[in-house]
Amino acid sequence: MPELIPVLNKNDIDKIVARVARKISSDYQDQELILIGILNGAFVFLSDLVRHLTIPVKLDFIRVCSYGSSDSSSGNIRLTKEIEIDVNNKDVLLVEDIVDTGLTLSYLIDYLKTFNPKTVKICALLDKHERRNANIKVHYACHEVAEGFLVGYGLDYNEDYRYLAGIYHLKL
Ligand code: IMP
Ligand code: MG
Repeated sequence: MPELIPVLNKNDIDKIVARVARKISSDYQDQELILIGILNGAFVFLSDLVRHLTIPVKLDFIRVCSYGSSDSSSGNIRLTKEIEIDVNNKDVLLVEDIVDTGLTLSYLIDYLKTFNPKTVKICALLDKHERRNANIKVHYACHEVAEGFLVGYGLDYNEDYRYLAGIYHLKL
């Protein structure tokens, strides 16, 4: 049986999401911010994040699939849902559940830049350093983790565990 080791509970998550939301609200005051959530993993994080923000924002979603083994990114990324909102000359914040190799975000930044946004920055719930392989900057990270595979609060392993309120280390 896979083992779930608690990393962050509901309360911890609420605090770290609120802290990042305060920073974003202050940095983007008086700007036209568009949040782009990366499906499926970011759906829980994004919905909590917007409710902690104190500035008006618009949002949209994007979806990618990456072929390869189920616990690491292959770098073969395919867009399965395009953005539908106009980001031309707007400030864009890509909202991701977890940054691992960074290949997904690197691909998405290049994709978004073709629509001429004013700025593109990255906000991630979790920033995992172990396997970073792309030169990207995570501007807003709620929590840093060194290694391991995490599930819950939107994060899955083969589509399981997304529904959990807390975040866990999955030991297979
Ligand atoms: P990257 O392209 O390697 O940065 O991979 C990013 C994607 O891989 C994330 O959006 C997640 O969907 C998935 N991923 C990477 N590490 C984990 C993890 O620890 N738990 C769950 N999903 C992960
Ligand atoms: Mg994901």
